[in-house]
Amino acid sequence: MKNIVIAVDGPAGAGKSTISKIVAERLNIEYIDTGAMYRAITLKIIRKGIGLEDIDSIKKLLNETHIDFINGRIYLDEEDVSEDIRKIEVSSKVSDVAAMPFVRGKLVELQRNMASLKSVIMDGRDIGTNVLKDANIKIFLTASVDERAKRRYKEMIEKGNDVTFEDICRDIENRDRIDSTREVNPLKKADDAVEIDTTSKSIDDVVNEIISIVKKVGVKA
Ligand code: DC
Repeated sequence: MKNIVIAVDGPAGAGKSTISKIVAERLNIEYIDTGAMYRAITLKIIRKGIGLEDIDSIKKLLNETHIDFINGRIYLDEEDVSEDIRKIEVSSKVSDVAAMPFVRGKLVELQRNMASLKSVIMDGRDIGTNVLKDANIKIFLTASVDERAKRRYKEMIEKGNDVTFEDICRDIENRDRIDSTREVNPLKKADDAVEIDTTSKSIDDVVNEIISIVKKVGVKA
């Protein structure tokens, strides 16, 4: 039997990372959060004070950056930045950074390397349509904007961020627009992906639905 390669795509706040993490634990496979990689690059750009129009500096920075996942945490140049990459300052810039073709080129190469040797569940925006086109299972998660904003708001408040519900709605709508209209590999459901609307479903329901698809396809962990 083949290794499991599960591609999970969908807009911000659809539940991709929460659900993918649990599926990974249940199947004992690796979880790779590609959004976290775009966020880590964005964080470094902000920390260095580089403007998004300064393409040369961003290209140079990319070549001098090391990103790694260890035990579910993301490391930027050996520093654990798992919390810092979730800040609103990073969220509001990350879609513009992720729309840069040379940033995508570099990170997609890294993502394919990470997925080449083991069974993985990888989430993002272009996993089923581009990064892992041959994935044996493709899932497209959606939810209404209102539901997605509510989830993100709750998460941000619980983590002690000083944000309003309106800030989150604006951020989600803005990111949806940039992510789905950009020229290079925009957010799009792959033709062979199974779409799951998570609006009124529990996390457990969605996890079980994905696990039953995996069982039907008959791949090994
Ligand atoms: O999933 P997230 O909200 O952490 O993703 C952060 C941003 O990165 C999001 O605005 C879109 C972008 N992204 C992307 O363009 N391609 C991916 N594979 C993953 C994320």
